[in-house]
Amino acid sequence: MAAQKYNKPQRSPELHTPGAWLQWAVGEYESHDLALGQISDNAHDEALYLILRTLGLPLDSEPDVLERLLSPEQKKLLRQNFRRRIMEHVPASYLTKEAWLGEHRFYCDERVLTPRSYFLELIPTLSSYLPKGTPVKDVVDVCTGSGCLAVLLAYEFGSARVDAVELSPDALEVAQINVCEHGLTDRITLHESDVFDAVPERRYDIILSNPPYEPSAVCDQLPDEFKHEPRMALDGGADGLIIVRKLLQQAMSRLQPDGLVVLEVGAQRRAMQQAWPNLPMRWLKTFDKMNCVCLIRAADLAKHFRG
Ligand SMILES: C[S@@+](CC[C@H](N)C(=O)[O-])C[C@H]1O[C@@H](n2cnc3c(N)ncnc32)[C@H](O)[C@@H]1O
Repeated sequence: MAAQKYNKPQRSPELHTPGAWLQWAVGEYESHDLALGQISDNAHDEALYLILRTLGLPLDSEPDVLERLLSPEQKKLLRQNFRRRIMEHVPASYLTKEAWLGEHRFYCDERVLTPRSYFLELIPTLSSYLPKGTPVKDVVDVCTGSGCLAVLLAYEFGSARVDAVELSPDALEVAQINVCEHGLTDRITLHESDVFDAVPERRYDIILSNPPYEPSAVCDQLPDEFKHEPRMALDGGADGLIIVRKLLQQAMSRLQPDGLVVLEVGAQRRAMQQAWPNLPMRWLKTFDKMNCVCLIRAADLAKHFRG
């Protein structure tokens, strides 16, 4: 039934323009119950993204590109990508082999989580939480995946050296691609390590992480789109906090005295507060009011973990 439905566009005379594909695709997203949240939180924007990037057009293309007549080859590419998106629930980012954080493009494939982090809006605010005038010299992105946040850190803190830590060798290969494509090989050092276990001794001004934080039972129930992503990028163990716990324990000995830990934890805010009721956590405000990134100061961490 679904396959028959998919055959429709191949025969439809009206799908000769990107605009016609867009209108059709939005309906298909709804009728096939496609999960969103990787590229965009709405079907229109994701379908538009997939059309433009399949055709090699920029995301800020003028609206009149939607009226252009497509060549047979272009229609074939659109058919292929929408078939995989709709029938196999493959994330759009794995079809286009890219994802964008703001103006920055990152290579992306099945080896890494699709970049989508609140740190895009929060990294520019981080220096305001350090004592005024503190030079930011050393920062680290733990659980770097595609390396996207390490790259954003390197852009934000132009004189800092950036470490990027990742346990998956596959993900590290993708991070390496992105570090090279952004011309940051002299600024960013990649480390294969379970949190800080194999990272050489160094103290950081900022430890940043978007770790795996979904409880395992939640991972089991995720929509297919998210099951295409590496399980180890999402699964934070029984309570979702396995990596967070290890990171907080190790962070103490890795921070400068005025240093900060910033952690993106999705729906685990309450679990964090229950796990560490006496540890001061500041929940940073985000535009969509999810406020799921917490900031913890080195001094508070030291007091808490040393008792
Ligand atoms: C939620 S993804 C975040 C990726 C990237 N920072 C981003 O924001 O798109 C978490 C990443 O942590 C990695 N990871 C999982 N366990 C780890 C561990 N024990 N030590 C280091 N990295 C780990 C996963 O392989 C995955 O790439």
